[in-house]
Amino acid sequence: MAPLLELRNLTKRFGGLIAVNNVNLSVDKGSITSVIGPNGAGKTTIFNTITGIYKPDVGHVLFDGQDISGKRPDQITAIGMCRTFQNIRLFHNMTVLENVMVGAHTQTKSTIVGAMLRTRAFKEAEEEARQESIRLLRFVGLPAGLGDQIAKNLPYGQQRRIEIARALASKPKLILLDEPTAGMNPQETDAAVRLFRKLRDELGITVVLIEHDMKVVMGISEYITVIDYGQKIAEGTADEVRRNQRVIEAYLGRSAALETAEGADNR
Ligand SMILES: Nc1ncnc2c1ncn2[C@@H]1O[C@H](COP(=O)(O)OP(=O)(O)OP(=O)(O)O)[C@@H](O)[C@H]1O
Ligand SMILES: [Mg+2]
Repeated sequence: MAPLLELRNLTKRFGGLIAVNNVNLSVDKGSITSVIGPNGAGKTTIFNTITGIYKPDVGHVLFDGQDISGKRPDQITAIGMCRTFQNIRLFHNMTVLENVMVGAHTQTKSTIVGAMLRTRAFKEAEEEARQESIRLLRFVGLPAGLGDQIAKNLPYGQQRRIEIARALASKPKLILLDEPTAGMNPQETDAAVRLFRKLRDELGITVVLIEHDMKVVMGISEYITVIDYGQKIAEGTADEVRRNQRVIEAYLGRSAALETAEGADNR
């Protein structure tokens, strides 16, 4: 299978800290891939470097055969890559529908003059974006009629779905989800996993997720990459990664250290 996304020797430094250290990664078109690793390993920084929030210090990001290293986030969205954030980033005082329509506007061709004069072409584009946003809200499983509610008043699990709907409005080929089930209860998590599968199976979108919930990771991922201290320490199928000694040590090593620290705190 052809890779849709490729990282070649990706390195990102913050001053003296090497947050991402020479990472190579290949994501097949139509796959569901997870990036896992302990807290602070560099996972979000990888997403931020892929999506143009940061420029790589070394290395390249290739998307659909094109070198996109150093492009702006809006340029990257326009060529078919979207994302959600570890800390939900909605426009909290806007309605649910308006939030999704913001995503759809990356696709509409309306001009500023058209918007000011409210030309027929502008109104038609606006109506199209509205209909598409309603359809997307339904697709991500939000109850009908929720569109007019203010985003900040909704429960966390629903806000995560709105964020996904907004990302989908840009008609992506690939979606990057940063800890999409964080803070969800087990029922919400199961429903979210079904949605991630639906993105791939029904919309044909390639899915890459950063995830801490191992049940989710092992259940959904066709391929897993493990990051520790900015470096790729393992990759493979769920079974391969689960049995990998370096992975076990990376996780056990830190939880053992954590237990010792907690023990010390309690004393
Ligand atoms: N903008 C920044 N400036 C300086 N240091 C940063 C910045 N962003 C991240 N870091 C540091 O880079 C390292 C990797 O952080 P990152 O957020 O990528 O980790 P992560 O794997 O996503 O962790 P978590 O699982 O906790 O979300 C950490 O040491 C973090 O403190
Ligand atoms: Mg993170």
